[in-house]
Amino acid sequence: MKRSEINANIVSAKKFLAQQNFRLPPFALWTPQEWRKKGHEADEIRDCLLGWDVSDMGSGDFSKVGLVLFTIRNGHSTDRRYPKTYCEKILIQQVGQQTPMHFHWHKAEDIINRAGGDIAIELHNATKGEALAKTDVAVSVDGVRRVLKAGEAVVLKPGESICLTDHIYHRFTGRGSTVLLGEVSTVNDDKADNRFFDARGRFPEIVEDEPPVHLLCTEYPPAK
Ligand SMILES: [Fe+2]
Repeated sequence: MKRSEINANIVSAKKFLAQQNFRLPPFALWTPQEWRKKGHEADEIRDCLLGWDVSDMGSGDFSKVGLVLFTIRNGHSTDRRYPKTYCEKILIQQVGQQTPMHFHWHKAEDIINRAGGDIAIELHNATKGEALAKTDVAVSVDGVRRVLKAGEAVVLKPGESICLTDHIYHRFTGRGSTVLLGEVSTVNDDKADNRFFDARGRFPEIVEDEPPVHLLCTEYPPAK
């Protein structure tokens, strides 16, 4: 992705979140210059990958496959300095834009439609060989058990949520208007706990065509 595209998406995400009256923590606004002055007091943000995360998942076309995320809180899968067992993110999905089919070996997550349009979530169980199973998929949708056919989509309207446990393949598509999603989960490890069915990578290759407005969660400089 070009840096200019990442910047534009962060700027429009901030505007959208303000319209939805959703406030981010202070580090969402730290500039690259401010990051260069931060010491070890900000290690939790660096080490748990908190903050901005804009990715086209290697698709080369963010409008079709991609997502803007902001990780608000998280633990760490191996570093005991960070004892949180939970994670919270927000996700912004555009109309017609998809988050590619994937599952998590370990993470269980609730995906919550907080505001905006609808989100369609297509589901498959994973086979032992990590292919798409043809078996029915049982999920909890706001406390109500539902059994879906393989590949069937659950459509969540604002206020609705689904619990996705490990080894359930899921693919999201935004519908109607931009969607503000919440994600509440067990500890998130984007470097080791995503099994994509057909995507090329979790984090984008970046072409630097202008300076960053904000650094992505994978880009923080070491402590001063
Ligand atoms: Fe997921």
